[in-house]
Amino acid sequence: MLAPSTLKMTSPLVSMVARRSLQTSASAMERLKTFSIYRWNPEEPGDKPRLQDYTIDLDQCGPMVLDALLKIKNELDPTLTFRRSCREGICGSCAMNVKGSNTLACTAKIADDGKKTKIYPLPHMYVVKDLVPDMTNFYEQYRYIEPYLKRDTPPPDGKEFIQSEADRAKVDGLYECILCACCSTSCPSYWWNSDKYLGPAVLMQAYKWMVDSRDEYLKERLDRLDNSYSVYKCHTIMNCTKTCPKGLNPGHAIAEVKKLLQNDKYEVQPQQ
Ligand code: SF4
Ligand code: SF4
Ligand code: FES
Repeated sequence: MLAPSTLKMTSPLVSMVARRSLQTSASAMERLKTFSIYRWNPEEPGDKPRLQDYTIDLDQCGPMVLDALLKIKNELDPTLTFRRSCREGICGSCAMNVKGSNTLACTAKIADDGKKTKIYPLPHMYVVKDLVPDMTNFYEQYRYIEPYLKRDTPPPDGKEFIQSEADRAKVDGLYECILCACCSTSCPSYWWNSDKYLGPAVLMQAYKWMVDSRDEYLKERLDRLDNSYSVYKCHTIMNCTKTCPKGLNPGHAIAEVKKLLQNDKYEVQPQQ
């Protein structure tokens, strides 16, 4: 049986008021979040870099920053430009600066703190458009360390290069790098000397090939880095290790490269 107060709600005026109040409480329950995103389009003459605000309802969006960017692009502004591919922290293409830290947009949770979240491209890189950095120099540097197996002797069985478990373990913590460049672009030394200093991401990969038991070019690899810039511009500030979204330790790898460079015999030290 209906209570008298509920019966009263059947008049048209009252039901309109009720509808309005339902709408108001629904919008009060929206979890609105504003993203302030770096925009710049070099193809538009005179366009200047600026921050553009977009507000979305977090209840209508996935939990990660990349979800928010995709929602903004799909529903609010198709001109917003950024890179992404795997959406699970594997390809490294969605690296950007979120709330002041370099990270992967696809694995960075949206902060539901009611505050604006600022998003910029990776710092101190040339920008292609919006959140897309120019990675040309980074990839040139990667090419410089010759990131592939180098050896002259064929495999003993004529088929494959077998590694012991202990030798294989030496590349743990190194091979997982996805070359997102979050570390290199958080390094002050790299900001100021990226033309000559190779930066933590590339140096960690150089170290990976130095400790790979199948590789026979340790001395040549070290010779390529033996100058005052390629490695020694690292001042052990450790921003790189703090920011790595994969939890790796490029700062440690660089310290190991420095040890190898100082070791006349170029004897490989096992990783700690
Ligand atoms: S070490 Fe970490 S931050 Fe640097 S490139 Fe590799 S995955 Fe990215
Ligand atoms: S330890 Fe510091 S200086 Fe060295 S690569 Fe990392 S952030 Fe750069
Ligand atoms: S989309 Fe591949 S790492 Fe984020």
